[in-house]
Amino acid sequence: MTVTDPHTTADLAAQTRPGAFPSGFAWGAATAAYQIEGAAAEDGRTPSIWDTFSHTPGKVAGGDTGDTAVDHYHRFRDDVRLMAELGLTSYRFSLSWPRIQPTGRGPAVERGLDFYRALTDELLAHGITPVATLYHWDLPQHLEDAGGWPQRDTAHRFADYAQIAAEALGDRIGIWTTLNEPWCSAFLGYASGVHAPGRTDPGDSLRAAHHLNLGHGLAVGALRAALPASAQIAVSLNLHAVRAHSEHPGDLDAARRIEAVGNRIWTSPMFKGRYDEDLLADTAHLVDWDTLVRPGDLAEISRPIDLLGLNYYNPTVVSSLDNAKDLPRHDGHGDSTHSPWPGADEVAFHLAPGEVTAMNWPIDPTGLSDSLLHLHREFGLPLLVTENGAAFDDTVEADGSVHDPQRAAYIQGHLGAVADAIAGGADVRGYYCWSLMDNFEWAYGYEKRFGMIHVDYDTLVRTPKTSARWYAEAIRTGRLDHSTDQR
Ligand code: FCB
Repeated sequence: MTVTDPHTTADLAAQTRPGAFPSGFAWGAATAAYQIEGAAAEDGRTPSIWDTFSHTPGKVAGGDTGDTAVDHYHRFRDDVRLMAELGLTSYRFSLSWPRIQPTGRGPAVERGLDFYRALTDELLAHGITPVATLYHWDLPQHLEDAGGWPQRDTAHRFADYAQIAAEALGDRIGIWTTLNEPWCSAFLGYASGVHAPGRTDPGDSLRAAHHLNLGHGLAVGALRAALPASAQIAVSLNLHAVRAHSEHPGDLDAARRIEAVGNRIWTSPMFKGRYDEDLLADTAHLVDWDTLVRPGDLAEISRPIDLLGLNYYNPTVVSSLDNAKDLPRHDGHGDSTHSPWPGADEVAFHLAPGEVTAMNWPIDPTGLSDSLLHLHREFGLPLLVTENGAAFDDTVEADGSVHDPQRAAYIQGHLGAVADAIAGGADVRGYYCWSLMDNFEWAYGYEKRFGMIHVDYDTLVRTPKTSARWYAEAIRTGRLDHSTDQR
């Protein structure tokens, strides 16, 4: 654990990197079903935990819901055309579990699958490689009513759903991601409660974590059995780029704890077939790991995968509480009196130095290059940046255009960090900007805009921003040194 002196975005941006990205590098953008599709009650779809949560007063800013979202369900052909105009070579989206298997059990709804057949056909017709995420947080409400992720059975239901999806769509989707950010599902969903289903029980959050891991492993098995041998299987983790505030032993221990319950709780079982002793010790008072983890689980969870997806937004700077007088215990994930970090009550979260985005997330691309290089050295897997991007308060100008040089500079700096990691030896195969277009940003509703394409929430009209044009030029030339400030 070192305390790194971050370069500034400007340093990175000043560098030019012709040829930094290998041929076949995926230039992508990412979205998720509940955030964009809308059509919440159409064609047999039933509520997910996010429908229930967003319809519960006080849970989402402005009372916003994903009922209509950006109506991608009806406008996907236009959206794919916009992707093609940007020159995207790949698109990462998620399948809505309650659209495909409404109660989370039993046979599939063909109309739900038809939507994804049509979407992927449209992508393929435009030369865009589809990457499907099976689970981006929209658990069928029926399964939450039966106990949700703290229940072991949910992992088996997830594997059945994976099999259904792979059998129906495996002929046209070659890259599959099991879970998106299980840390958020487990700890924002069941510990701090700022995400659906909004529960606040640290023991349940750890049970959820293990069952998400198990669900991942079982789904990998189901996918392998159903997909052609050429298919590639991945998982998308929001591994925290953890930095100790100082070399003080208390701060180093805080960093160790957050790495354990933030990162190694996923990577050790998935890639090393074990839970680390320090994690088990830190959380032993909250859950009985001996009964939770059954014989054979770790072998299931550690089934080999082909690619590791990293979602990165900002570094995480921590200290012990003793070394953090007067600091709010703020970690950028929404307000709750309950911590999303079980077993880490004595840890304080600091804001990394420098500029922040509209989420108050610090901007520091070195966290991305550090993480990619670390993952490369530690696990040796090919890597994808499956999410990276920034919210800013955009303004629509009189002529309808949206000038967002800050977002373009953010993407430039972080693509520079990817180039640095590749130069350092990491096998990074693609970058997916979060997000293609403005959308429902979970607990923040429509208040926070992450899109490269602006969406007018009254008319649903899409308008590419400056950042979209900057990204299109990067894709076209493979270079990062063009101006981020060009209207
Ligand atoms: C990630 C989520 C994604 C989006 C971004 C901003 O944690 O995976 O859906 O909300 O944050």
